[in-house]
Amino acid sequence: MKKKFIVANWKANKTEEEAVAWIESFYNSEDQIEDRDSKEIIICPPFSLLLQLRKYIDANGLSLSLGTQDISKFGAGAYTGEIPAEIIKKIISHSIIGHSERRKYFSEENQDILAKIKILLDNEITPILCLSDMNQLDFYISHDKTVVDRSSDIIFVYEPPSAISGGGSFHAESPQSVEENASEISRKIGKKVTTLYGGSVNPDNASTFFELANIDGGLIGQASLDASSFLEIIKKC
Ligand code: PGA
Repeated sequence: MKKKFIVANWKANKTEEEAVAWIESFYNSEDQIEDRDSKEIIICPPFSLLLQLRKYIDANGLSLSLGTQDISKFGAGAYTGEIPAEIIKKIISHSIIGHSERRKYFSEENQDILAKIKILLDNEITPILCLSDMNQLDFYISHDKTVVDRSSDIIFVYEPPSAISGGGSFHAESPQSVEENASEISRKIGKKVTTLYGGSVNPDNASTFFELANIDGGLIGQASLDASSFLEIIKKC
C-alpha cells in the first residue's frame, strides 16, 4: 500500500499542558487507526513544545514524527532569534517551509525558501515544501537543481492561501483544482512526487481529497488542534 502522510500544523497554538493533553488523548485512541504502518503522522508544534513532545514520544514508543513550522536560512552563529537546522535536527525529522503565512507576515521570499530547502536537505531533515501556486515551483526549478535532484526527499504541499481556514470557517479548494495542481507539480519535477493538499481539510471533507490520484495526504491546520478531529481525518486517509 502506498504511504500516506498526515501533517498537523499547530501554528502558534497550545500551551505545554494543552500539548500533553493532546498527545495523551491521541495515544489512547491510536489503535483505532487502520493500516497504521502505511501512514506517517507528523506533528509540527511551536518550537517551545518540541523537546517535551520528543520526550513523550520516545518514552512511550509512539510512532509519531516531529517537525518544525520553519527553519533558519542560516547555519549556527550570530543570528538572534533563529533556530538553525543543525541544532534542532536531533529532535525533528521534518520541517514545514514556504508556508504562505510566513510569506505574508514575515516577508519570506522564494530565495529565502530555496536556501531553507538546501539547508534542510544538507542536515537530513525532510522539507515539507508549501506551494501557493506553480510560479513558486518554477522559481525553485529554474534557479537551482536541488528541488528536482532531491525531489524524492521532499514532501510537496499544494496549499492555495485562499483555502486556508485561518482558524475561522472552512473553505477548501475544489478537489478538481487540487488534483490538477498536484499533477502539475509532478509534471514540472519530471516524475511522480509525494504531494499533499492543505487548506480547510476537516473530518467532513478529508476523504474527498485523500481519494485523489495525485494526493498522498494532507497538511492540517485548524482541524489538527483537537486530537479527536485529527484522528477522524487520519481514519479517512
Ligand atoms: P487550515 O490550515 O487547515 O486551518 O486551513 C492549513 C495550513 O495553513 O497549513
